Amino acid sequence: MQQQSDNSSPQWNKTRISSGLGIQYPIIQGPLGGLSTQRLTATVSNFGGLGSFGAHGLSPSAIKDVIAEIRALTAKPFAINLWVSMEDEGARTSSSDAFARCLAPLAGHIRALGGALPTYKPYTPIKFEDQVRVVLDAKVPAFSFIYGIPPKEILDECQAQGILTIGAATTPDEAIVLEQAGVDVIAASGFEAGGHRGSFLRAADESLTGTFSLVPQVADAVSVPVAAAGGITDARGIVASFALGAEGVQIGTAFLACEESGAIAAHRQAILSGNARRTGLTRGFTGRLARGIHNQLLEELNRPGVEILPYPLQRSLVRNLSVLANKAAKPEFLPLWAGQSASLSRHNDAKALLQTLVSEVSTIAGPVLRWNRERRPT
Ligand SMILES: Cc1cc2nc3c(=O)[nH]c(=O)nc-3n(C[C@H](O)[C@H](O)[C@H](O)COP(=O)(O)O)c2cc1C
Repeated sequence: MQQQSDNSSPQWNKTRISSGLGIQYPIIQGPLGGLSTQRLTATVSNFGGLGSFGAHGLSPSAIKDVIAEIRALTAKPFAINLWVSMEDEGARTSSSDAFARCLAPLAGHIRALGGALPTYKPYTPIKFEDQVRVVLDAKVPAFSFIYGIPPKEILDECQAQGILTIGAATTPDEAIVLEQAGVDVIAASGFEAGGHRGSFLRAADESLTGTFSLVPQVADAVSVPVAAAGGITDARGIVASFALGAEGVQIGTAFLACEESGAIAAHRQAILSGNARRTGLTRGFTGRLARGIHNQLLEELNRPGVEILPYPLQRSLVRNLSVLANKAAKPEFLPLWAGQSASLSRHNDAKALLQTLVSEVSTIAGPVLRWNRERRPT
């Protein structure tokens, strides 16, 4: 709920999310997994939002380094993000035969780009428990996560250390169990969102609620503050999220388009080109359901009968092609992660994006906030 400076002009940025995190604007730069950078995280935090770094793919010692590097760039609050569930059933038992079958649809492209075909290697898991230890020991300001709920001892320790927790919900039921577990903020992630569906109570394809339906249901179902995620790219999306009951937003794709992100130029251009109107969901890029711009790779891997390895084996397999496609600047063979509102992205500079968002929201938010203030208790 918004706090107000006087009866007629509540300040849109004063919410439980901004006060709980100690930030000026309740705008969270969504963690971007392997396309996160220390620079983007710090730029957003220095501006007064919450920069986030997606660290699920990193070893514990690499996470420790990243946290130190972010701290060298900003003294403001930031979030480190992990995936509670790091592998799908069958990942440990998947065979070399399955590897060969799943490589088949990619093999021609790998060869055409001059690459050698990868060989089967047994899988070495990275454990959430080891990663989270480093995050807690570093006493980061905020810890965000998807794909489940961390064990009680972890959440208790966060509370004891003053680490604010942000858990992702793709359904109202997930939001309710996150709140019951003691999570501080819910990121309600509609199916428009770029990247992975972090569903954990039901299968991801049974949890495809859109942001417009999800946010008000979650806001009504929980008493902790809600950040709306999925399809929010400009001031209209932020103000709409507030009207739906959110007290903050989490934006991914619009930040991915900025040069501070870890996305290669061809990926950023694909988002900004206006040709990103068609996105699709696929398991083909990693083994888990995720959204990207529709391209040749997505289409081929979504074809009926194409076998996909369990997460994270498919991710490692596809990386053999995407590393080559990156070098050859062939975006048609890259997982072009993006949400459904990608084509609304306008900025290639994170600070300029934030300045526009803040100035436009400040102009149009007043009536929405007044309406919400009358409806909800303060
Ligand atoms: C490339 C990419 C990687 C992402 N990686 C993560 C991640 O590791 N953890 C996470 O919680 N969310 C992740 N997300 C989701 C974003 O943080 C954010 O919630 C989402 O992008 C919001 O929807 P939007 O893309 O429509 O703005 C990722 C999104 C993208 C586009």
